[in-house]
Amino acid sequence: MSAFNEETVLSVHHWTDRLFTFTTTRDQSLRFSNGHFTMIGLRVNDKPLLRAYSIVSANYEEHLEFLSIKVPDGPLTSRLQHIQVGDKIIVGRKPTGTLLIDYLLPGKRLYLVSTGTGLAPFMSIVRDPETYERYEQIILIHGVRQVDELAYHDVLVEHLPAHELLGEMVSSQLRYYPTVTRESYRNTGRVTELMKSGKLFSDLGLPPLNPAEDRVMICGSPAMLRDLKHMLEEQGFPEGNTSTPGAFVIERAFAEQ
Ligand code: A2P
Repeated sequence: MSAFNEETVLSVHHWTDRLFTFTTTRDQSLRFSNGHFTMIGLRVNDKPLLRAYSIVSANYEEHLEFLSIKVPDGPLTSRLQHIQVGDKIIVGRKPTGTLLIDYLLPGKRLYLVSTGTGLAPFMSIVRDPETYERYEQIILIHGVRQVDELAYHDVLVEHLPAHELLGEMVSSQLRYYPTVTRESYRNTGRVTELMKSGKLFSDLGLPPLNPAEDRVMICGSPAMLRDLKHMLEEQGFPEGNTSTPGAFVIERAFAEQ
């Protein structure tokens, strides 16, 4: 059996000239956990050209959804940004990754810290009822350069709280904290600085980070990952992985390739 399925593009939405989202059909046999990534791409000169992408859609949904940046000279994204409804996409049959609640120790609060397209796996995690059963509060932090790069802002603020099945859990347990670094906005500054200074916690009315109660997932640029990992380790948070659960787990946002 092939390592890939061929799927059909169902919708494309361009958030900005640097960022877009698309949905595809989903092979019924594809299984994944919320937070996983898989290889996706296009056939170019009859060869698969693939990159890792986190899955935005939840694992119970009938379609697949992905969030991508557009790199003008990026081998894949320079082509992928032009996809249209009805086009074919290749999707790897073996999703994997470390951003799973199973790889975290039990805790009280779950912090999901992202920059840019690093938001993608967290969109799947905040649509998983299990997340709300395991943690009292889920705090989703998204840092971007410009306001219009706050992808899924309206989904998080309007649609999810009104969702038929998840709405009640989302309304009472999910906190969303968008922050912008290169324009004025209601929250500004890098996610790392906001955490280090404590502003994020005082804005949300939450206690400072504490390894006994708090769990953290991180996804975004390599520089943010490095800085935040360092900060958490200094505060006594052990890193988890697929074999040993910890107080935080990390994955880089792949879509910048
Ligand atoms: P900044 O504007 O200060 O560079 P990008 O679009 O380059 O992926 O960046 C997404 C967001 O991540 C931006 O708001 C950017 O802030 C921020 N960022 C970049 N590097 C870091 C870092 N080391 N720690 C925290 N945030 C970062």
